[in-house]
Amino acid sequence: MTRHPLRWHQRARFILAHRLTLPLHRLFNLFPHYEVGLSSVDISRIECRHAPLAGRRAVQISDLHLDRYQSRHDAVVRAIAGLQPDWIFVTGDLLNVPDGLPHLFRFLSTLRSMAPVYLTLGNHDHYSGIPVDRFSEMADRHKLTLLINQVAFVAVGSGELGIVGLDDPSLHRADLRCIPPRVPGRFTVLLAHAPNVFDHLHETHAVDLMLCGHSHGGQWRIPRIRPFWLPYGCSGRAGGHYDRAGRRLYVNRGLGWSILPIRWSCPPEVLVIDWTDSAPPDNRAPE
Ligand SMILES: [Fe+2]
Repeated sequence: MTRHPLRWHQRARFILAHRLTLPLHRLFNLFPHYEVGLSSVDISRIECRHAPLAGRRAVQISDLHLDRYQSRHDAVVRAIAGLQPDWIFVTGDLLNVPDGLPHLFRFLSTLRSMAPVYLTLGNHDHYSGIPVDRFSEMADRHKLTLLINQVAFVAVGSGELGIVGLDDPSLHRADLRCIPPRVPGRFTVLLAHAPNVFDHLHETHAVDLMLCGHSHGGQWRIPRIRPFWLPYGCSGRAGGHYDRAGRRLYVNRGLGWSILPIRWSCPPEVLVIDWTDSAPPDNRAPE
């Protein structure tokens, strides 16, 4: 997958959805206590086998849609602090409107005081009207690592963690050419907002684990029934653990909301990734 334009009807659908939901986001930002199902956060856990990283831990959060800092964000901060991560990954949809920037970076800089933070952008970030350069400038100022079709490497003992951050695949902005070649001792995590890019990975892409969001888990669910709606770019994946041809993908339900501030039978989620030197159990999460 390389960057290429959306078809006109896909682009029209994204713009229409964003334009329709923007007034709702602005309205409900004025009434932050009118939220349902967002106050408590599930902690999900997966394990990855890679001896050089054994004992290390990362946390992934996604889909913050953080236009206004609220007490529930303090609860997320406390939960992540209690997990004592070595790294924190944030997979896009950081906010919806430019007014959210100071609120968003208040939250992210608090996380940065705990561990290095790696960010990617999602569709709502691009449609917020905030230039990518502005996101980069704010990230630099707060000592956060924003990855836009870029990779960062962290040396860990005898091994290395590679962190690839793609631009949003749902807007066809991802460029897989930034994925580095396989190197002994390196574990590569791929961060991307939307899961559709998982289907474009092939054998030569040295990716050990892919982490995404975008789906909100369906946001409104009836237990044991498939989601009513998933946004373009999910490829039918609502949440949890998936594998294909030996590759692993985790789709995080995210922390925020779209359209209405309601999550029904679909609580916000923080994912913990623990590295181990023994074979991990079957991490597959039921749909
Ligand atoms: Fe989102």
